[in-house]
This record gives sequence, C-alpha cells and structure tokens, in this order.
Amino acid sequence: MKALVATEYQALDRLALADRPMPSAGPGELVLKVEAAALNPLDLALVTGAARELYPVRHPLVVGMDVAGTVEEVGAGVVGYAPGDPVLAFVGQAGAVAEYTVAAPGPRLAPRPPGLDAVRAAALPESGMTAVCLLRAVGLRAGESVLVVGATGGIGLYAVQLAHSLGARVIATATAQDAAYVRELGAADTVDYRERDVVQETLTLVPAGVDVVVDLVNRGDGLAESARAARPGGRLVSPLYGPPDLGREVSPVYIGSFTSEPGDLESLARRAADGTLRVEIGARYPFAEAVTAVTDFATKHIRGKVVVTVP
Ligand SMILES: NC(=O)c1ccc[n+]([C@@H]2O[C@H](COP(=O)([O-])OP(=O)(O)OC[C@H]3O[C@@H](n4cnc5c(N)ncnc54)[C@H](OP(=O)(O)O)[C@@H]3O)[C@@H](O)[C@H]2O)c1
Repeated sequence: MKALVATEYQALDRLALADRPMPSAGPGELVLKVEAAALNPLDLALVTGAARELYPVRHPLVVGMDVAGTVEEVGAGVVGYAPGDPVLAFVGQAGAVAEYTVAAPGPRLAPRPPGLDAVRAAALPESGMTAVCLLRAVGLRAGESVLVVGATGGIGLYAVQLAHSLGARVIATATAQDAAYVRELGAADTVDYRERDVVQETLTLVPAGVDVVVDLVNRGDGLAESARAARPGGRLVSPLYGPPDLGREVSPVYIGSFTSEPGDLESLARRAADGTLRVEIGARYPFAEAVTAVTDFATKHIRGKVVVTVP
C-alpha cells in the first residue's frame, strides 16, 4: 500500500508517498481502509524531530493520526465492529495519510453516523477530543466568560462552539477576515490578534477579567501574559506547558497529552452529523498532493482543518 512516509527526521518537503507493507489486524485490532486523513501540528513536529524528546519516532513514520474510513479487517477478540462499518479514529503513530491503517477499539475509535462524510469525520478526532478535554479539565461552566486564544485553529473552532453550547460567554481571537465566522460559531466578541493587544482588548470587554482563558497558542512565559486577561481567582488551560505560578491568583491547568473518555468521540461525531457542531474544512488535497498539504499546513493561514482524501 502507499503511505506518506518520513524515513528519518527530515524537512517537510522531503516527505514522499512510498510503499509500505499492508497492515494486518492483530488481536484486539482493526485494519481501516482510509478515506480521509486530517493533519495536526504534532504531525509536523514528529516529521522534523522538533518533538523528539517527548514523542520519539520509530522510522519509517507514516504521517498523520486522524482518519475516517471503513473497517477492512477485524482482529480476534474485537466485538462491535464488522468489515465495511464506517468509522473515525485517532490512530497515533500507526499513521493516517495512507491507504490503510490500524486502530484499536476504545474511546479514540467511533462509528461514523449517517450524515457524517469521511472528510468532516477525519477533521474531528484530535482537535475535537482535545477541545473537550481542555474544557473539562478547566471546569468551564454556564454563565462564565472565556477567552479562547487561537480560536481559528483546529482545536479553537471546536472549543468556541463547545464553550458556547455550555452557556459560556466566549471571546475569541480572530483576524478581521475570520471574525464573522467565529461569531457565527458562538463567539460574543472577537479580538484581532494581529492588530490589537489581546489582553488589553479582553479587559476592555470584561474589565474584571474573564473567568477562564483557553490558550492554544502561547507556551512558557507567554501563558503568564495571557493569564493577565483572567480575573483574580480565574483559571487558565493550555495544551502546551507554562510556569506553575501565573500570578494574579490564576490557576493553570496544563494538558501535555489529551485524554478522552468513552463517548467523547461518538458525541462529537453525532453533533457533527446533526449539524450542532460545525466542522470547518480549510483545505482539502488529493492523496497525490499529500506533501503539498503538509507544507501548506505548516506555512499558510488556513482557517479550519487540512484534510487529505485517499482514493
Ligand atoms: N496536548 C495535547 O494533547 C495537544 C493536542 C492537540 C494539539 N496540541 C497543541 O495545541 C496547539 C494548537 O493546536 P491546533 O491544532 O489548534 O493548531 P492550529 O490548527 O495550527 O491552530 C492554531 C491557530 O492559532 C492561530 N494563531 C497563531 N498565532 C496566534 C496568536 N498570537 N494569537 C491568536 N491566534 C493565533 C493560528 O492562526 P494563523 O493561521 O493565522 O497563524 C491558528 O488559527 C498546537 O501547539 C498543538 O501542537 C496539543
């Protein structure tokens, strides 16, 4: 089978479609026929080696972790799935930009409901489950105010919608070209991070400071700066790492690796299928142009997810 492969830590434009052995389903595993795969920032860091200390790679690496497709083969002991079933999954380093991959039943694999096509389904797992995990970890509640920094990215577009549906007042970062769209998703206000000081603008909107900051962009001391938008006693959550003490009595929650509970991915898929969760596809590429998909994702502003379709 063909897959998008890195043979060593390497520049993104040196990726290539290459032959890989057809996977087989071991006990407790499924082989999936991939129809669509979505990209995430970690995929790039695994290729270049930028994340090698936290996430060492065994080469050859098949790029991508988010897939949608159908069950091709069912391993011994697997119940609840049969060949031909439409599914979506986060498959980790089994690799997603490929004709076939391997997944294991659990919270990171879900049936794909009618009405959810493979392209939108592939755009859900990592970003969607991370958004759910972050909001759960920070305990966002109805009536609270929340600043989402990085709201127009993969996680951010889901975080804005999920926070709004929880009943929170959402302030979202977005450039002028994306502001109207982010408001449609539920943001009450937007702040143009390219033109304005996000903390100052947020404090103009909520002078006492927001209850919660969800920061998907900054790391390290940059998170202490974002925390200035929170009220004393507020909370900040990040999928990256920052200092243990943010000042202003703001409590940090750092999620090094997202965790998912049973039903999280099913719920995201159900909401995407019934239209209560919008899935923004920023760009889609045929399998033959998978290298361009990766380099564009790394270099261009693309609102929403980048998806590669596999024939
Ligand atoms: N811990 C975990 O389990 C976990 C899981 C998933 C992701 N992550 C990490 O979480 C981060 C976000 O992931 P993602 O998938 O949402 O990334 P993404 O799709 O690349 O989105 C990032 C967004 O932030 C915007 N942005 C850039 N600089 C900004 C700024 N100064 N202020 C406001 N917005 C800004 C970007 O806009 P432009 O396009 O204009 O730059 C983009 O829309 C990444 O670092 C990723 O590695 C961690």
